Amino acid sequence: MTTTTPAEPKSVLPDATSLPAAQQPEWPDATALASVVEQLATYPPLVFAGECDDLRDRMAAAAAGEAFVLQGGDCAETFVSATADNIRDRVKTILQMAAVLTYGASVPVVKIGRMAGQYAKPRSSTSETREGVTLPAYRGDMVNDFEFTPESRTPDPQRLITGYHAAASTLNLVRAFTQGGFADLRYVHEWNRGFVANSANARYEGLARDIDKAMKFMAACGADFEAMRATEFWSAHEALLLDYERPMTRVDSRTGDLYDTSGHFVWIGERTRQLDGAHLDFVSRIRNPIGMKVSDKAQPDELRRVIDLLDPNREPGRLTLITRMGAGTIRDALPPVIEAVQSTGAVVTWICDPMHGNTFESTTGYKTRRFDDVVNEVEGFFEAHRAMGSVPGGIHVELTGNDVTECLGGATEINDEDLNKRYESVCDPRLNHQQSLELAFLVAEMLSRD
Ligand code: PEP
Ligand code: CO
Repeated sequence: MTTTTPAEPKSVLPDATSLPAAQQPEWPDATALASVVEQLATYPPLVFAGECDDLRDRMAAAAAGEAFVLQGGDCAETFVSATADNIRDRVKTILQMAAVLTYGASVPVVKIGRMAGQYAKPRSSTSETREGVTLPAYRGDMVNDFEFTPESRTPDPQRLITGYHAAASTLNLVRAFTQGGFADLRYVHEWNRGFVANSANARYEGLARDIDKAMKFMAACGADFEAMRATEFWSAHEALLLDYERPMTRVDSRTGDLYDTSGHFVWIGERTRQLDGAHLDFVSRIRNPIGMKVSDKAQPDELRRVIDLLDPNREPGRLTLITRMGAGTIRDALPPVIEAVQSTGAVVTWICDPMHGNTFESTTGYKTRRFDDVVNEVEGFFEAHRAMGSVPGGIHVELTGNDVTECLGGATEINDEDLNKRYESVCDPRLNHQQSLELAFLVAEMLSRD
């Protein structure tokens, strides 16, 4: 087994601190922060380098159309919601979606949780004002608390330590679920039968019946279902807080390479992808498979320079571009982006995030998204890639396993008035369990149209 040893963050990342880092909290006490960073650097890695290498291979398969990636989870994980039931239900939702997508795509689905580290958020404004009172914006549980009081909103570096422990216990349970029999394809199939048994989902009965037949066919052929009791499942989050990611970055004793051991896959968000910034510099130095969000604002020349920085060796699986353009924009904005990347010779993994370009405020004052816009953006993503001879490699979705009411529409027809019934996200609206499965059935149809 690979071993990863703690490294002195300073000697490992020599000039990282001299580059501007966007979206970092203003920690009030530099000494307290330094001591936390030092402590984190001594903690065991959450993932091993060899696992990250395996995921890079899976991402390379997705770039070639030989696998399909499903990334999903909360917009912002919180410490209080890191309970066994919540983690189970999120994993279950992802497994159910993956089973449907596997059938649609006829290739393995690479399952990646937006989990076990998604505790920090970029914000469009550094402060928030309510009834004349202005406080620092909520930046995720690893920085401050959502409650609107001066104490709660003051960044506290101890939260980096709590975040590490929350990530460790979440990942431990995820590993237990996915290795210990919970992911058994036969259970997952039964859960999906429950979904289509609901009359609201009758539209998906045909596909569900086909999957049922395929399962029976496999059983009749003597398929080794025991071997399908476990599944690979990877962790991912936005590499936003450099005071967490840097001390979690370790030297792989086999190769001397650096790995960010806070998760298997980390990505850079739309607000921190400056070419001369600390975030791209950071991910350029690690060997993990990495991602970057790309909006309709990305310029072709900028993307070519990003690729030279992040994937200089043109290594399939190394770089994933997660496009988030909006349903009304993707069909125009994605083709020039694909063309720019193709001109570099890089083989990136293309993933569609149909969430972040489709957010708006409801008439009832909630940040929300329409299920139909989400579906429409994924459709536009498939159309653009197919027209350009490129490979649509996966989807990236904000979801929960709970029956929340945060996104509008879907077969159960959540409307503006329903949003206040169960709106629990502390950041962006998530697809609920039903909407997530519905999306999987629709994407499976798109995949099987090939
Ligand atoms: C997110 O994924 O929650 C997010 C903030 O996305 P983006 O960086 O694309 O805006
Ligand atoms: Co979000």
